[in-house]
Amino acid sequence: MRSDGVVRGIPMARPVIGDREKELVMQVLDSRQLSLGPMLTRFERAFAERIGTRHAIACSSGTAALHMCLHAAGVGPGDEVITSSFSFVASANAALFTGADVRFAEVDPRTFNMDPAAVEAAITPRTKAIEIVDIFGYPAEIPALKAIAEKHGLAVVEDACQSIDGAYDGRKLGTWGHPAVYGFYANKQLTTAEGGLILLDDDELARVLSSLTNQGRSDDGAWLVHSRLGFNYRMSDVHAAIGVAQLERLDDLQAGRARVAGWYQQRVAGIEGVTPMYEGPQVRSWFVYAPRLDASIDRDAVIVALNARGVQAKPYLPSIHLQPFYRERFGYEPGHLPVTEAIASSTVALPFFPEMTEEQVDAVCGVLKDVLAAR
Ligand SMILES: Cc1ncc(COP(=O)(O)O)c(C=O)c1O
Repeated sequence: MRSDGVVRGIPMARPVIGDREKELVMQVLDSRQLSLGPMLTRFERAFAERIGTRHAIACSSGTAALHMCLHAAGVGPGDEVITSSFSFVASANAALFTGADVRFAEVDPRTFNMDPAAVEAAITPRTKAIEIVDIFGYPAEIPALKAIAEKHGLAVVEDACQSIDGAYDGRKLGTWGHPAVYGFYANKQLTTAEGGLILLDDDELARVLSSLTNQGRSDDGAWLVHSRLGFNYRMSDVHAAIGVAQLERLDDLQAGRARVAGWYQQRVAGIEGVTPMYEGPQVRSWFVYAPRLDASIDRDAVIVALNARGVQAKPYLPSIHLQPFYRERFGYEPGHLPVTEAIASSTVALPFFPEMTEEQVDAVCGVLKDVLAAR
């Protein structure tokens, strides 16, 4: 921190990129097999092995992966998908891409994930699927949500884009018998610059999803035979190369995030008006550091003050149903989801990345404490 109390040079997020990423990217470039090559298969195999699934299908983004999973589950016009509004907009957009409507279920105020009772209450005769979201790396109530889906004959797709390696009752996200999606944007626990991946065990569904990723090509791999209406949602081998290198260092990256989160949790607990992130019985995969401010505090004014002191901070996450597009298209107004809205208006994302130092965490928390005391 400078003598005038301004903090400089701490980014919100920063991927760890080293020689190994460069080496493997160069290997792909030198090989001239830039797409549908061996690096892609290597990434998929290594990922499936790490998580413990029969299949891992890499694609161009987490959004693309979610869209394909819902499409492959038969979701389409006239159907409804139940999901969380306390998520990144892509969770709901993926359902809209299929032509279906979205119904948002309220969340649990501790975990910020969907409340199973609210999900069950949101079911209508049009409901086709439940799209579980594991927000901020903390696993949703998967067994309860799966039981509801089974009882009502609904498909389940899991948006675990923020939760690579998270686990519920010791079982990793992706191994629960329905397709689960991880995301690899540059702020994620593992990045491929842009990218996503579907984890699943079902051989037949894996065949369909692979084909959908690659223009609906025939399952026997015949060149230029398209047996279904597919997409180009492929991941290139250049992106996969970054992913292979990141997988090799993923344990270190996760340990780095957990270490930084530990420093934050300790310091934030001592700042009046701030609630540290929830630590419950499940394994959180640390994605963001976003503590909650008391309802009496003007969160947006705090963010302006933090930014003025050089600390990057963001209102994260805004609820999906109050995004301009959702309000205009579906007529949502504030008050529709009080729990979600209260969380969305009180959480603040602070700088968070695996190589953040204890001094940097101290600097951020010092400014946060000053800003709150000066109100
Ligand atoms: C919860 C959630 N779902 C979906 C996505 C979409 O992933 P992508 O940006 O790879 O399309 C993200 C990405 O930030 C996310 O956080």
